[in-house]
Amino acid sequence: MAPCTCSSSLLLMAAAAISQLLLLIPTRCSAKVPAVIVFGDSSVDAGNNNVISTVLKSNFEPYGRDFFDARPTGRFSNGRIPPDFISEAFGLRPFVPAYLDPMYNISDFAIGVCFASAGTGYDNETSNVLNVIPMWKELEYYTEYQQKLRSYLGGKKAYKIISEALYIVSLGTNDFLENYYSSFPIPGTNGGGRRAQFPVVGQFEDFLMLLAEGFIRELHRLGARKISFTGIPPMGCLPLERTTNFMGQHECMEEYNAVAKDFNGKLGAMVDRMNRELPRLRMVFSNPYDKFYEIINKPSAFGFDVVSVACCATGLYEMSYLCNRQSPFTCTDASKYVFWDSFHPTEKTSQILAEYLIKSLLLPTFS
Ligand SMILES: *[C@@H]1O[C@H](CO)[C@@H](O)[C@H](O)[C@H]1NC(C)=O
Ligand SMILES: *[C@@H]1O[C@H](CO)[C@@H](O)[C@H](O)[C@H]1NC(C)=O
Repeated sequence: MAPCTCSSSLLLMAAAAISQLLLLIPTRCSAKVPAVIVFGDSSVDAGNNNVISTVLKSNFEPYGRDFFDARPTGRFSNGRIPPDFISEAFGLRPFVPAYLDPMYNISDFAIGVCFASAGTGYDNETSNVLNVIPMWKELEYYTEYQQKLRSYLGGKKAYKIISEALYIVSLGTNDFLENYYSSFPIPGTNGGGRRAQFPVVGQFEDFLMLLAEGFIRELHRLGARKISFTGIPPMGCLPLERTTNFMGQHECMEEYNAVAKDFNGKLGAMVDRMNRELPRLRMVFSNPYDKFYEIINKPSAFGFDVVSVACCATGLYEMSYLCNRQSPFTCTDASKYVFWDSFHPTEKTSQILAEYLIKSLLLPTFS
């Protein structure tokens, strides 16, 4: 592959202090990967939930108000999310469209496609809680995509895209917060039931590890070779978790953060093991935890004013339909906030995290 001659990585290296300025300079490189293909939950969902019957949606204002054309796409953000920045940094489109979005078709998806679904998890029981797309179904859509790609481009070109694309996999938070720690099991689902089955959270982590490994094996079997496997954030510091931390004066739930760190450690070890075991696999562990924790602890160092509550509505508990145009409390400048709604970062936070992973890991490994 031709070496990329643009200076984006150098620029990015200097970015620590002046990242906001530099990130406005578009990166113009020849593409280093032919496509970005995304699996996971709301951390990377570009709008697949718009067309399924779930209450977990975000395709209405004020979501998307800082996106291109101020369009609410179904991203759980005021603007773009990490895969959009990653796609752009690799010289591709500045966003990755959702597979189920009727605005796009296979000619668009040939350079990037997102199969993620907000609210999903490794565990089928997690996707059941809010009736969203389970991981096995994301893989089924991916298989269908491969067929469409073959009939659109022919077998040889399709193979090149499938085997050289960068795959982003990002999920896990919901398995803990919507499922394992859920104190209000939703009727007809097993929400919270895993806690009875696995009384010690480490056992549940190990159960999820098996599912994560199974997912990676299947993705590899289907032809994926370059994978960015994402760790989970300091989930005890999400505004919703602070709001419900009555015992702890609404500080971060350190128990949840400890679980996230422990789980990330296991995921990292799995990534190493899979790289040794699966032929021609090149998988990196993209761990956002430390950088995210740094932002939460020193928000002003990154230009943020507010970290403990979100921008949308009261910022204490609202997301999805509760974060809507009717709230008079929504902040005017989301870039001053670490979190957009009670469960999801603002575009600016996503951008800082994505750029950090891009320059430290993704561009060096995959370009
Ligand atoms: C995809 O959509 C574009 C414009 O909407 C159209 O011109 C094109 O023919 C479509 N391609 C396929 C393969 O359906
Ligand atoms: C999840 O559900 C799918 C479809 O019913 C099934 O094939 C798969 O085995 C389930 N996974 C687990 C771990 O139970």
